Amino acid sequence: SLSLSEREPEYFSPRSCKELMLRYKTNEDGLYYLTTASGVVYQTYCDMTTAGGGWTLVASVHENNMYGKCTTGDRWSSQQGNSPNVPEGDGSWSNTVTFGTAEAATSDDFKNPGYYDITAKDVAVWHVPNNEQVNRWKLTSFLRYHTDTQFLNSYKGNLYNLFKQFPVKYNIGSCPDNHGPSIPVVYDVGDATSNHNLFGPNPRARSKPGFITFRPINTERAAMAICLGVKPTDCDTEHSCIGGGGYFPEGSPRQCGDFPAFDWNGYGTNTGWSASKQVTEAAVLIFYR
Ligand code: G3P
Ligand code: CA
Ligand code: CA
Repeated sequence: SLSLSEREPEYFSPRSCKELMLRYKTNEDGLYYLTTASGVVYQTYCDMTTAGGGWTLVASVHENNMYGKCTTGDRWSSQQGNSPNVPEGDGSWSNTVTFGTAEAATSDDFKNPGYYDITAKDVAVWHVPNNEQVNRWKLTSFLRYHTDTQFLNSYKGNLYNLFKQFPVKYNIGSCPDNHGPSIPVVYDVGDATSNHNLFGPNPRARSKPGFITFRPINTERAAMAICLGVKPTDCDTEHSCIGGGGYFPEGSPRQCGDFPAFDWNGYGTNTGWSASKQVTEAAVLIFYR
């Protein structure tokens, strides 16, 4: 593809929020149109201010029903039930299927073509309460962090490619030998302690905050996609990591879903293995820069 300076100015169509920001010198957060290499036009949210701006929203992971175990709405795990016959579930982490809209990114799952089209260096994550309107995301987010190591340079520039290298697939490997990379993060809202406290005392004792971890694997060889600001130090990753393949053997089907076993000791109790209500009822917004 052509670089920014090679493109005909009158036909310039930004492929990422960073290109848009550099080209038009805009520093306003909000919804913009981007165009993929193949010409698909889509609308998404740009964070034009955090740490220099230029962050493109590419996905959101939303838990619509904690009691639905790999049922409708579990697009980042499986909508086809907990089954070893569907080891990758819906396969959203490493395919080009898109869904949702930017405006509804805190009310439903969202995945746009930027997820696989943009070549990026870093990732940012926002935890925004469900059903918040776009103009309130920044204000109401209770935890926001980003990487600044340019780690995506080592994984072909985006999560689509990273997850091709580290498939989110049941029985692809074992814990702890086959976890994917853990990357340190910088906090923009909240800190390592407030991040850690979103999870129950048991997962807290078995993880370190201040990292984002990709493709963890649990004791029973279930694969997840992203650990939320933590680096697991053992194998019960289903309580602080999200997304997944289509099969979680432990307690079948209780761990299968977009927020896998966040409710293991009750919904939102924040005791034992359970996550807090706050993190359970917030969408996870994923950005590239
Ligand atoms: O992930 C938690 C599980 O492996 C242990 O659960 O209920 O036996 O403490 P439990
Ligand atoms: Ca979902
Ligand atoms: Ca477990």
